[in-house]
Amino acid sequence: MPSPWCPDVALKAYRFAAEAHWNDALRQCVPGTNLPYLLHIGSVAMEVMAALAREDGHDGTLAVQCAYLHDTMEDTATTYDDLLVRFGAPVADGVRALTKDPTIGADQAKPDRKALQMADSLTRIRTQPPAVWMVKLADRITNLQPPPVHWSREKVSAYRQEAGRILDALSGVSPFLDQRLRDKISAYG
Ligand code: NI
Repeated sequence: MPSPWCPDVALKAYRFAAEAHWNDALRQCVPGTNLPYLLHIGSVAMEVMAALAREDGHDGTLAVQCAYLHDTMEDTATTYDDLLVRFGAPVADGVRALTKDPTIGADQAKPDRKALQMADSLTRIRTQPPAVWMVKLADRITNLQPPPVHWSREKVSAYRQEAGRILDALSGVSPFLDQRLRDKISAYG
């Protein structure tokens, strides 16, 4: 039995994401391409929707909203309060947990800093409802497409290991997404 979600509420979040990632001040593209970043956002929402269509018991509307909005705080001028006013506390809290804290590990070299920020975000995601965990799983599933050719073997391997840590931290709320991520990790690099 599927978990329903409300298209009208989802559309409001999708539209907000479209305007946040693509406007006069910011034309965010998928890294290494000329394609709008909304492609990434839509892909993450699609993974979440695929899980909602197969599994019951999820808060589908929360999951889909957080999927559309998951990178707005990290990548755009959007603030927590913007999300709170427009979408309410569960969505704003979920997106904040999905956002890396740039102040963490500021004195560390880039790989260590990124690892600390990811670990911190995973800890915060685990305090959120399962719908938020699903978005992080869907985000990494989406990002485990073939790596850019200029990435070193070390970088590819580190990204694969980080995906394993995400799976370890967040598995158990969606068997479908767990299996999707496991398969993507096996096929990666
Ligand atoms: Ni993302």
